[in-house]
Amino acid sequence: MIEIRNLTKKFGDRVITNNLNLTVPKGQMTAIIGRSGEGKSLLLKQIIGLIKPTSGEILIDNVDITKLNDKQLNEQLKKFGYVFQFAALLDSLNVWQNIGISMLNEGYSKNDIIPIVKDKLKLVQLSEDTLYKYPSELSGGMAKRVGLARTLITNPKIILYDEPTTGLDPVTERRIHELMFNLQKQFNVTSVVITHSTDLFQFADNVAFLYQGRIAYFGPAKEIWQCDDPYIHQFIRGLPDGPIKTY
Ligand SMILES: Nc1ncnc2c1ncn2[C@@H]1O[C@H](COP(=O)(O)OP(=O)(O)O)[C@@H](O)[C@H]1O
Ligand SMILES: [Mg+2]
Repeated sequence: MIEIRNLTKKFGDRVITNNLNLTVPKGQMTAIIGRSGEGKSLLLKQIIGLIKPTSGEILIDNVDITKLNDKQLNEQLKKFGYVFQFAALLDSLNVWQNIGISMLNEGYSKNDIIPIVKDKLKLVQLSEDTLYKYPSELSGGMAKRVGLARTLITNPKIILYDEPTTGLDPVTERRIHELMFNLQKQFNVTSVVITHSTDLFQFADNVAFLYQGRIAYFGPAKEIWQCDDPYIHQFIRGLPDGPIKTY
């Protein structure tokens, strides 16, 4: 479980994360929604220890990762997979090298890595023909799948996704959401997904709405379209009037 308590992050005197509290239930998928620039990516970066909060606690399985030294933090981070916005593949490496990059860095040979990469390709429903392709030869949806396969190489118990479907057409987006959902069920991972896609609500368990540095709403995804919370009502329909400031 991820438990965030009174988390604050300031840059100078700009407060981005503002005394935020959030409990992410174990084994479930939680969507985080909110306007651009609200601090969604920043929240994920604090959860994986990439950015140190100004104050507050982030408990991962009851360990406060904000208090750990680098070595202890690296140990905790083995539980995590992080799927970057825009897949973030390395253009000069082919698909198997991209997926196996953490094993390459640890000195494993190609013969060790390829069978594991093939296994992960199967999980993300890509054929073995893609092993030797370069990122420039992949469609947007394929690149996202490769990015996901790279994350799966460490068998993470927690997967954090930063806008995994931004830039995809609606059909490809649906396929990626189905894939995320199936992986969720198959491995019983805990997933946190930053998204602008309301399509994800069919697959997620919970929705958390980030507004002015806090979680302004947290509730079940399957009831979200009937939800009478004024923030949620306005935001998911893109309405101009309501408690959310529009510019
Ligand atoms: N490393 C940083 N240094 C200074 N400001 C940052 C840094 N990271 C994020 N910010 C600021 O925090 C705000 C939220 O950013 P971000 O988390 O990327 O928003 P979102 O992902 O919700 O669109 C932005 O105003 C951004 O400029
Ligand atoms: Mg972002």
